[in-house]
Amino acid sequence: MAEPQASNWHPHLWHPFNQPGRGPAPLAVRRGQGIWLELEDGRRLIDGISSWWVTLHGHGEPRVAAAIAAQALNLEQVIFANFSHRPAAVLAERLCALWPAGAKGEPGLNRLFFSDNGSTAVEVALKIAWQHWQRLDRQRRQIIAFDGAYHGDTFGAMALGARGLFSAPFEPLLFAVARAPWPSTWWADESIEQREAAALAVLEQLLQTPTAAVILEPLLQGAGGMALVRPAFLQAVQARVRAAGALLIADEVMTGFGRSGQLFACQQAGLYPDLVALSKGLTGGFLPMGGTLATEALYQGFVGPEAERTFFHGHSFTANPLGCAAANASLDLLEEFPERYQRLEGWHRPLLERLAQQPLVLKPRLLGSVAAFELQGPSGYLQAIGLELQRHCLARGLFLRPLGSVVYLMPPLCISAAELGRCYQVLEQALAEL
Ligand SMILES: Cc1ncc(COP(=O)(O)O)c(C=O)c1O
Repeated sequence: MAEPQASNWHPHLWHPFNQPGRGPAPLAVRRGQGIWLELEDGRRLIDGISSWWVTLHGHGEPRVAAAIAAQALNLEQVIFANFSHRPAAVLAERLCALWPAGAKGEPGLNRLFFSDNGSTAVEVALKIAWQHWQRLDRQRRQIIAFDGAYHGDTFGAMALGARGLFSAPFEPLLFAVARAPWPSTWWADESIEQREAAALAVLEQLLQTPTAAVILEPLLQGAGGMALVRPAFLQAVQARVRAAGALLIADEVMTGFGRSGQLFACQQAGLYPDLVALSKGLTGGFLPMGGTLATEALYQGFVGPEAERTFFHGHSFTANPLGCAAANASLDLLEEFPERYQRLEGWHRPLLERLAQQPLVLKPRLLGSVAAFELQGPSGYLQAIGLELQRHCLARGLFLRPLGSVVYLMPPLCISAAELGRCYQVLEQALAEL
């Protein structure tokens, strides 16, 4: 094997969302610890985006690592169609307990279906919703999603997401989805009420058509540009979805497990969805795993002797015991140290306020561990300014991956106040150089 270089394009590897001729060559990394990534050439970088939003507690978190190692010596994998195991049962019990029914009869979540990643967690939610209505009311064929949404890269998830650069080559293969506006907001936004009212009017109109499900990213759209909405808007959406008798699907793949400042963004927003997609932080970011939570009422529709009630969906690694062990260890940490996800918004705030005084910084916004803003100038994912900012930050030891003109920080929860301050210092210097 060739000696790893500090950064290179390997002759046999194919990287996602990056290619020779366009983006920077991948950096060769040899170790991760806490917020730090150590490169083969000895440089150390702060992982400012938690490695695509998955590294929850920090790289190499010893309790999660130990749980995986112990589980590997006991039971590494088993076919989940015919077997069950303790790590999966414990995880399902713990996750469902975090989604109780509301005081006004709102549904709680009581069943966990496993898959492999965020896209499949969304696919599963959609397939459950669709099969549910196939049995009960075949008129309900409309799916509603929001402008700017991102739900993953598999075909179903892609169809739900906003259409554009990522999905353009596959357009003829994607099923139709109705689309409502996403009235995103930011600090000192003065026209949010009008935009929310306009979005709700569109949603109401769409809901006149019999609808199977409405899917949304609670509070914060991720890949669509770290676009924040207000809890009151989501509650108004929920009321309309309920009145129309449609199912509500919450995609908490990014926002879940403390990212939003509470354990789940739905709790913060007062949402009681019928289905929730989880991944990324589920295993503390150690192993690929997806989970879809569903109400007991939905599950009961899939129970009985008739073959057509079966949910014919499964992955080879469904409920992989290593992933379940990691997820249980990660939940232990979230339970033991809630302050780690609760305090980050308060740490971000004064730093973002200061940064927002820079003329290049527009539309600052903040939710839990995630701070975001836009760079003045042309907007969009293809804007080179994001790559340029990334280069300047890397030179100072901070890894960021702006979404074009949208810059955000989403560090692992173990970051200290001083280290977060360092991230902002680097950003400030890098912005000054643009
Ligand atoms: C909200 C949301 N849903 C789904 C996905 C897809 O997850 P995965 O990349 O694990 O398939 C992502 C990934 O970024 C996401 O942010």
